[in-house]
Amino acid sequence: MAALLLGLLLFALQSPPLPSRPLADGGSSPPPTLSPADNATASHPNGTLQQLPQIIIIGVRKGGTRALIEMLSLHGAVAAAQNEVHFFDWESHFQKGLPWYLSQMPYAFPEQLTVEKTPAYFTSGKVPKRIHQMNPNIKLLLILRDPTERVLSDYTQVFYNRLQKHKSYQPIESVLVKDGEINLGYKALNRSLYYVHMQNWLQYFPPESIHVVDGDRLIKDPLHEMQKVEKFLNLEPQLNASNFYFNKTKGFYCLRDHGRERCLHDSKGRAHPHVAPAVLQKLYQFFHEPNRKFFELVGRTFDWK
Ligand SMILES: *[C@@H]1O[C@H](CO)[C@@H](O)[C@H](O)[C@H]1NC(C)=O
Ligand SMILES: *[C@@H]1O[C@H](CO)[C@@H](O)[C@H](O)[C@H]1NC(C)=O
Ligand SMILES: *[C@@H]1O[C@H](CO)[C@@H](O)[C@H](O)[C@H]1NC(C)=O
Ligand SMILES: *[C@@H]1O[C@H](CO)[C@@H](O)[C@H](O)[C@H]1NC(C)=O
Ligand SMILES: *[C@@H]1O[C@H](CO)[C@@H](O)[C@H](O)[C@H]1NC(C)=O
Repeated sequence: MAALLLGLLLFALQSPPLPSRPLADGGSSPPPTLSPADNATASHPNGTLQQLPQIIIIGVRKGGTRALIEMLSLHGAVAAAQNEVHFFDWESHFQKGLPWYLSQMPYAFPEQLTVEKTPAYFTSGKVPKRIHQMNPNIKLLLILRDPTERVLSDYTQVFYNRLQKHKSYQPIESVLVKDGEINLGYKALNRSLYYVHMQNWLQYFPPESIHVVDGDRLIKDPLHEMQKVEKFLNLEPQLNASNFYFNKTKGFYCLRDHGRERCLHDSKGRAHPHVAPAVLQKLYQFFHEPNRKFFELVGRTFDWK
């Protein structure tokens, strides 16, 4: 039951349908850059300005990135971009350069920190280097959940998108398993190989710059997990128990922002597909070793099956 609710929640927290694949490298001229003095636009008469993000939520897809950015924006010292910007992973955006990226940022007061989230950054090989070039001291947030649950959630999102467009879809067992073996060619599976992608980030950023948020715990105990985030970002501890309340009908936490209550989604009718127990078992077994490698990499363990 808990797993089902979790699935419902995380599914419904999804961002808009999967964007199309980024364009391949065009080999065109390097994008325009900003001089370091130019990280922010001229301030607006109301005292706000746009600034390059000092924090980026890099992923993972279906990990709970929407919940994380919404909870983070409860903090008065944080200004969050509304949309997924896809600057560092999409060539067509990256070629427009930092001035364009800046133009996508929210208006913030100078003492606020700006954050954007694009879950596809985590699994895109070229992104870490590009972010490092912009700001080697940036703070990165990565929210992860049980890799098996994440694969099922990833499949479910694509499944519903295809269903909506009246396109055909393959049953989950046939994408997960090929010739009796776990299908390594399935992209959603690869996205859950966290250590593979993490290694890439650690080539550019020290471990102290990347805080891993436990997505499974964020759902069950948001305040505790968010307090760790505040600490990592050196934010004044501001979130408290009154920012979160449990909605029994929905079965998860909603947010209270200056007295305004909002829940993150409408969970109607979306559950994980039923997966043959033998396949599920195979999946859990498959992730055992990759998970161990990830724990070793980050020096921390997670409560994954
Ligand atoms: C712009 O960003 C760079 C690197 O992130 C930093 O060293 C510099 O101090 C910033 N400049 C301003 C004016 O904030
Ligand atoms: C300040 O102006 C910007 C640009 O028009 C606007 O987006 C923002 O909401 C304003 N902020 C406040 C606090 O008035
Ligand atoms: C998974 O993705 C990474 C990064 O895109 C790639 O280097 C790796 O070869 C992929 N692994 C498998 C098993 O497909
Ligand atoms: C929680 O924070 C709000 C606003 O920041 C404040 O008004 C309230 O008194 C705090 N509640 C508790 C229980 O500390
Ligand atoms: C709790 O969830 C139910 C069911 O989705 C919803 O109708 C209701 O408005 C929510 N209540 C609060 C206080 O968030």
